[in-house]
Amino acid sequence: MTTTEKQNQPVKMWGGRFAETTAASVEAFTASIHYDARLYRHDINGSRAHAKMLAKQELISNDERDQILSGLNEIEAEIDANTFVFRPELEDIHMNIEKTLVEKIGPAGAKLHTARSRNDQVALDVRLYLREESRRLIALLTDLQRAFVTQARENLGAIMPGYTHLQRAQPVLVSHHLLAYYEMFGRDKDRLNDGLKRINVLPLGSAALAGTGLPIDRDFVAKELDFPSVSANSMDSVGDRDFAVEFLAAASLIQLHLSRLSEELVLWSSEEFRFVQLADAYCTGSSIMPQKKNPDIPELIRGKSGRVVGNLMTLLTILKGLPLTYNRDLQEDKEPIFDTVDTVSQSVSIAAELMANLSFNQERLLDCTHGGYMTATDLADYLVRKQIPFREAHAIVGRTVAYCIKENKELPDLTIEELRQFSATIDEDVFPLLTITGSMESRRSQGGTGIERVREALQLAEQNLGSN
Ligand code: ARG
Repeated sequence: MTTTEKQNQPVKMWGGRFAETTAASVEAFTASIHYDARLYRHDINGSRAHAKMLAKQELISNDERDQILSGLNEIEAEIDANTFVFRPELEDIHMNIEKTLVEKIGPAGAKLHTARSRNDQVALDVRLYLREESRRLIALLTDLQRAFVTQARENLGAIMPGYTHLQRAQPVLVSHHLLAYYEMFGRDKDRLNDGLKRINVLPLGSAALAGTGLPIDRDFVAKELDFPSVSANSMDSVGDRDFAVEFLAAASLIQLHLSRLSEELVLWSSEEFRFVQLADAYCTGSSIMPQKKNPDIPELIRGKSGRVVGNLMTLLTILKGLPLTYNRDLQEDKEPIFDTVDTVSQSVSIAAELMANLSFNQERLLDCTHGGYMTATDLADYLVRKQIPFREAHAIVGRTVAYCIKENKELPDLTIEELRQFSATIDEDVFPLLTITGSMESRRSQGGTGIERVREALQLAEQNLGSN
């Protein structure tokens, strides 16, 4: 660069119209480089595609394109190697990279920002980032589902109490309970996949807000960056963060599902339940009570749902009331997005490890299905099969249970005479149904806990995961 060219280059990329230098307090307040540096690969990839397009459209020469590309390679390698010096006075990742490029290669570098604004640039970077992270998260969720399916296979046949209102309700297969989580995390993957449709739209080429007068080729850039489509409205594209809200909402549901699982693990591993044992490697001790083995991992996962849901609220609140188009408020989207990606990814992968290393106390689980009149509904169903209207059957069984409580008996302990006091339609064939295994056997409805149904569901899940 010649001396005059250097004089024409203010420190700030936008410094031309300013007579005074920026106040230090303002630099500190506006800088985002300490967190958006994380977008460097996406920013550089976007710039590569943009430079190729500029050359194809003859807005820069092929030689300038090549200089830009090798400058960007160098910068990427320096950031990878941790030798790149980030300058807070250059605000953000976009300007840190661009300024360094200009310093490295001179005037060709100064052409990179042709027909581009940081507004469409940052929108692109966030989309590229969330596209990658959504896919990564989907893969992590598949690993988590695999842990549930493996446990469901290993514990197939084991019976436990199913709960409503945290009161023992009806016996279920342990595998049925486990496969419920398989379904939840499956929906989470569907949501991320669906969100990807909206993430996967190219905003670049919208420029500041109104498009550009220069002859760019957005379809070319879309192809380069593997976007199936190009955004339709430049004003919408630079101000839109709906796709990020959707991601944070999907991530919140993932964390909520993990939190519900965690709550069960905390309860189940307690002395009161003794349903499961968490592996020692996944528990921590107490600094004062030597006997303790605490479920800190599920507790932390549960606790972290606060920040994940909070991040969703943060972004919603940032967007509420923003006039079109880009406003600097949007810079505040990144920390909640990054924090959610980190928190949820970490939680999903540790939950998968936790589940893979969990052991079920099958004997204790079965014990807990005795008592609590858990086959009462089966008795009601039996009466229904004898043509008694369900409501009436419900009342009959209610009276039978009240009798059992008074006599301190379980339903299968009753004699046929005792049962007939409540309904003359009851015959000997009722007894198998009143046992836990009989009850389990009878739940053959689609999606029910009957062993055949669960076996099918498990097979299907294994098939699905195999093909993932
Ligand atoms: N750091 C900014 C952000 O994250 C980049 C866009 C800035 N654009 C601007 N016109 N000031 O949103």
